[in-house]
Amino acid sequence: MATAPRRLARFTRTERAVHWVHASAFMILLGSGLCLYLPSLAEMVGRRPLVKAIHIYTAVAWAVALLLVVVAGDRRSLVRTAREIDRFDADDRAWLRRRRAPQGRLNAGQKLNAVITAAFAVLFVVTGFFLWYGERNTRFRLPAALLVHDWLMYVSFILFVGHLFLTLVYPKTRHSLNGMTHGWVEEDWARAHHGKWVEEMSQWHEGEISPTAASRS
Ligand code: HEM
Ligand code: HEM
Repeated sequence: MATAPRRLARFTRTERAVHWVHASAFMILLGSGLCLYLPSLAEMVGRRPLVKAIHIYTAVAWAVALLLVVVAGDRRSLVRTAREIDRFDADDRAWLRRRRAPQGRLNAGQKLNAVITAAFAVLFVVTGFFLWYGERNTRFRLPAALLVHDWLMYVSFILFVGHLFLTLVYPKTRHSLNGMTHGWVEEDWARAHHGKWVEEMSQWHEGEISPTAASRS
């Protein structure tokens, strides 16, 4: 009788909550932002003040929800993930040069995506604040704020489409969706894409090293 493939815990509940809070807010902000930006959409939707209010309240709700997840969730797993992303080793550099190199829980591309996502979130908030406050106090009206806000939107839209392709469409990588919904992935898939992570996990299970990437539920 065939045995079921082994499952490896990939993302904690807190990591998944951070991801889905961020993703949901991003999609509403993108949708409402495009209704403000594209004349054809703006005309079709109408009700500009309502769309603007949705955009701004979503931004506030997004920041509050993220804060709540961090306060109430497993902060240790978030710190561990941040350290993991910060560690850019020779294998990561080789991977970026399109060489075959074993990858950790997140590959070099994913680490870069995580850093860009975090940096863009800060820049969106800062430029968004100036757009909002500049309307109320002309001393804070910075023409560059709108330009930067728009450029952030273009770049993050392209990254978002690539991200959707890899996580929902591309057959070799779409199994990763399981990790972000249920928290686990199959060992065979993990071995093919994140060999170094699987090695670390198995060494830990044999009691050789501490569980840097393990103990995820
Ligand atoms: C996270 C915090 C954010 C804040 C505080 C914020 C705030 C604002 C404000 C105040 C405006 C000006 C609305 C107007 O007067 O018409 C605006 C416009 C816009 N926002 Fe955001 N926003 C945020 C995030 C985002 C994100 C994540 C996206 C897209 C991915 C986005 C896309 C847009 C677009 C496309 C416009 C229209 C710009 C234009 O008319 O040229 N925003 N935002
Ligand atoms: C419906 C929309 C989305 C889906 C289905 C989705 C799916 C996923 C999945 C499956 C992973 C885990 C990848 C793996 O384990 O190898 C992931 C990771 C991640 N997602 Fe999303 N995501 C979505 C939206 C977003 C949005 C809007 C953002 C940011 C604006 C985002 C940022 C990230 C980041 C930074 C990571 C970790 C690094 C990476 O895997 O690239 N995601 N996402």
